[in-house]
Formats: sequence, C-alpha cells, structure tokens
Amino acid sequence: MTQRLLLTVNGVQHERDVPDHRTLYQFLREDLDLVGTKDSCRQGVCGSCTVLLDGVPIRACLALAVRCDGREVTTVEGLATDGKLDRLQQEFVNAGAVQCGYCTPGMLMMATALLRENPAPSELEVREALIGNLCRCTGYTRIVRAVLAASTIPEARPVDPARETA
Ligand code: FES
Ligand code: FES
Repeated sequence: MTQRLLLTVNGVQHERDVPDHRTLYQFLREDLDLVGTKDSCRQGVCGSCTVLLDGVPIRACLALAVRCDGREVTTVEGLATDGKLDRLQQEFVNAGAVQCGYCTPGMLMMATALLRENPAPSELEVREALIGNLCRCTGYTRIVRAVLAASTIPEARPVDPARETA
C-alpha cells in the first residue's frame, strides 16, 4: 500500500506516493537524495539519523514517512545558508569535533534543538542532551566544547578540564 505524503523538508514542499512501511530516513535519503542524514543501528539507539520534526529531534530510522504527513522536517542540509555553515557547524569545525563525521549530522541536529530551547546550556546540560548520540571516534569533549562555543555565553561555560579525555 502507498499513501500520498506531503512533507516540507528544509523549507521545500514535497508531495509523493510513499509505501506505508518506508521510514522517514529512507524517504529523505533515497527519495529526496538528502544523504546528509546517516544511519548506523537502525534501531533508535545511536542517534546518527536524528532530524527535526516540527523542531523536535526524532530518530528518522524509527519514524514512518507517512506518519509525518503535513509536517516539517529539518535535516543537516537545512542548517547552512547559501553555502555558509551556521554557527554551530562552524564551531564543530573550529573545535576539531569531527573525525570520520558519521555521527556529526545527528549531533548537529540534537544540539541545534538544545540551543533553540536553551541558548546558554551548562556543560552538563549539553552532555545530557547528547547522551543518546554515539560517536565512535572523537570522544565527546570537543563536541561538547563546540556546542558550548555556539551558545550565547560560551566564555562563561568552559568545558571541565577533568573531562578532557571523556
Ligand atoms: S540509525 Fe537511527 S538511531 Fe541509530
Ligand atoms: S566523528 Fe566518527 S563517529 Fe563521531
């Protein structure tokens, strides 16, 4: 069975017939060629596939595309403007928070949601927000540092040196 799906993705409306069982992840990557979103576990565990649905972070591997009808999705491709990285993306670059980069889109989307809700999070709040996003490469210190640097008062919230290797 297919259903008609109307979905706004990064500000662009798409209308497609979509099989009932197609995940939002498959729809974004395979139907719209938005390959920035990554998957790893396909079980809702790793956070690699995180996108924003009406501004709220969700696991795209667990969401059925047809259940998102009429709603608005933001993927990592929606963060930059006219080819210019947004502040959070730039701080990831500045902090060296990217190695293989596979977890990065999910990290960026989760951190984007955090900073929209809480523009000046503490280090603990950043760590708690990202607890469901797994990185196999960097450890988390540089990622946390990047998010704090993109907050409204980064100087006031240094990363705890005791966690430098965490
Ligand atoms: S691929 Fe979706 S949470 Fe891991
Ligand atoms: S940078 Fe490689 S998994 Fe995070």
